[in-house]
Amino acid sequence: MDVSTAIKQRISTRAFLDTPLPEAEVRQWLTDAQRSPSGGNLQPWRVIALTGDAKQAVVDLAAAKLAENPRGEPTDYPIYPDYISDAQNARRRAVGEAMYGKIGIPREDKMGRMMWFARNYQFFNAPLALFIIMDERVGHGQWGHTGMFMQTLCLLAEERGWGTCMQECWGILRPSLKEHLGLGEHEMVWCGMAVGIPDKTDPVNELYTDRAGLEEFAELRGF
Ligand SMILES: Cc1cc2nc3c(=O)[nH]c(=O)nc-3n(C[C@H](O)[C@H](O)[C@H](O)COP(=O)(O)O)c2cc1C
Repeated sequence: MDVSTAIKQRISTRAFLDTPLPEAEVRQWLTDAQRSPSGGNLQPWRVIALTGDAKQAVVDLAAAKLAENPRGEPTDYPIYPDYISDAQNARRRAVGEAMYGKIGIPREDKMGRMMWFARNYQFFNAPLALFIIMDERVGHGQWGHTGMFMQTLCLLAEERGWGTCMQECWGILRPSLKEHLGLGEHEMVWCGMAVGIPDKTDPVNELYTDRAGLEEFAELRGF
C-alpha cells in the first residue's frame, strides 16, 4: 500500500472484530512506527499496549470509575482548550452529528448518545488498546512530535489491514490510569488508541469526515 492510499483510506474506526492481533505483529508495528521524527530526536513518547486480561482490567476500571463519577476525574490537560474558533466549533459539531447520523441516534436522544459514547471506554471492542504516555514536564513541541508518532502508527496499521481510533477521551481518567498502569512520578496518559480489524458491517465505520479545502488552510506565495 502506498502512503497516499493509506492517508486517504484511514478513518477513525469505532467498531472492531474481536480477532486478536498476534504479539509478533504488534511488536513489529510498534518498532516500525518508532521511525517517526521528533525534534532533536527526543522520541518523547512511551507506549503501553494491552490485550486480553490486561485490556479488560482497564475497561473494568473505567466502568467502575465512571459509574462513581460520570464526568470523570480532574485533569490539567483538558481535551479542548477554552478557546476554539467558530469554524473549529462548527467542525466539531458537524462531525458529531455526522457520526450519530450514521448510527441513527438523534440529537434529542441524549441518553442514547451518552451510552454510545461510553463505548470509547471499552475501546470499541478492539482487541488491542494502546496508551500513549508523556512526561508532563515536556514542552508543546514534544506533544506535537508525539502526534507524528501516533499518525505513523495509524498509517502503518492501514497497511496491515488494521483500523485505529485515537482516543483522547481517556484523559478524564488520568489519575486512576496513572495508578493502575504504574506510571512514573511525572508520567501521564495523554491519549488512548483502539486497534484491530475493522467491523465493516457496522455503519459507524461508514463515516468519512470532511476536511476544509486548500484555500481555507493554505496560502501559496511566489509561485
Ligand atoms: C488526538 C486525537 C484524539 C481523539 N480522541 C477521540 C476520542 O476520544 N473518541 C473518538 O471517538 N474519536 C477521537 N478522535 C477521532 C477524531 O474525532 C477524528 O480523527 C476526526 O473526527 C476526523 O475523523 P477521521 O479520523 O475519521 O478522519 C481523536 C482524534 C485525535 C487525533
